[in-house]
Amino acid sequence: MNASSAPAPQPRTASASASAFATAPATASPTATAIAPEIAPAPALRWAIVGPGRIAHRFAQAVQALPGARLVAVHGRSAARATAFAQQWQPAVKADAELLVMPTLEALVHSPDVDAVYVATPHSHHSEPVLASLRAGKPVLCEKSLVASAALAEPLLALSRSRQVFLMEALWTRFLPLYAQLGAWLRGGAIGPLRAVHSSLCFAPPFDPASRLFNPALAGGALLDLGVYNLSVLRWVLQQAAGTAPGAGPEPGSQAHGTPEPTSWHIRGQLAPSGVDLRVAGLLGFADGVTATFRCALDSRSANALHIEGRDGHIVLPHDFWQATHAELHRADAPVQLADAPFAINGFEGQIDEATRCIRAGLFESPVMPHAETLATLRWMDRMRSELGVRYPFENL
Ligand SMILES: NC(=O)c1ccc[n+]([C@@H]2O[C@H](COP(=O)([O-])OP(=O)(O)OC[C@H]3O[C@@H](n4cnc5c(N)ncnc54)[C@H](OP(=O)(O)O)[C@@H]3O)[C@@H](O)[C@H]2O)c1
Repeated sequence: MNASSAPAPQPRTASASASAFATAPATASPTATAIAPEIAPAPALRWAIVGPGRIAHRFAQAVQALPGARLVAVHGRSAARATAFAQQWQPAVKADAELLVMPTLEALVHSPDVDAVYVATPHSHHSEPVLASLRAGKPVLCEKSLVASAALAEPLLALSRSRQVFLMEALWTRFLPLYAQLGAWLRGGAIGPLRAVHSSLCFAPPFDPASRLFNPALAGGALLDLGVYNLSVLRWVLQQAAGTAPGAGPEPGSQAHGTPEPTSWHIRGQLAPSGVDLRVAGLLGFADGVTATFRCALDSRSANALHIEGRDGHIVLPHDFWQATHAELHRADAPVQLADAPFAINGFEGQIDEATRCIRAGLFESPVMPHAETLATLRWMDRMRSELGVRYPFENL
């Protein structure tokens, strides 16, 4: 019997046990002062999922395999679908954990058994679970794009900051092992001063005006679904090459571009019959004559490559740059250098590890994927959508 045909059990409700992660009780007895304290391993971070759809399975698989994490709860609009999801992942859940189906969002965010929330609903429906989680003091990892516009993002980011509760957009590409190598090449000046960046991210799913990819009410369109990778990775590359990325000091060969804001801007696109952006291409100019071209589309095929060109060489991620495990460094008068960095699990482990690290450190944002990066990318996409004439129905309110 597979998960979807199994009889739906009654949703179980959370027990009233205290959150071991959030409120570790003091256990030392008065006599314990004479004994050298033992450092207990940190309890696993207990994750809940809102929106048990396609990508939530990838998250569940990574959490299930990570020693410092476990999946404890799930909530969706349909109890039957959430139950099927829970049944699929229940056998994989670690022995001491119970995967609960939460009847409501409120029950999930207020559960003492939940330490952190992963939001994987369509873009139009991220705000409600993010706000509810933050208000309940629960850290959030929210799928890209965080929301549909910068205006919608600002209250979420402000709440995270004012309450000091962690919030990160799940831009998992920045946490892939291959990108550590890429960053080292760029910061180390392996290709000399940066000249140009080109990326392409295109798919051709069947047109379905009701699907989250094409439905304006669900904030569909190529930019929010795919372009967010082109643009966020572009910003990251500019910062790495400039030595302005957090934690990346300027190294020999790097140059300073400062904030990677375009000095010139040309956007072209084609809309789908539903009114969302079907295809978007851009040429952005930056300081020192650096140019970036990108293309994202929901009606095209591409190698989905990333090319980074410098004065002394170039770097190629030949396919699927947003989930790449292979890169090539080409330098004048030197053999091609290959980098292969397979996923430890399925690629999601890096962003989950980062969220866990930040939450344990009491941070409200990740230094690798900070709020400002989410906001800046959304502002670029706002401007692009505006030039293309894409406006979501909920933005007209
Ligand atoms: N990191 C990546 O590689 C990656 C890949 C794909 C997608 N994503 C991102 O993940 C998010 C979800 O994408 P997906 O492809 O997994 O989406 P999906 O399967 O179409 O939907 C995800 C879940 O959201 C809920 N949902 C669907 N429509 C809804 C609506 N109108 N109102 C409220 N809830 C609704 C559904 O759960 P219930 O019906 O049970 O409530 C569904 O299971 C998006 O932000 C997307 O950009 C990331």
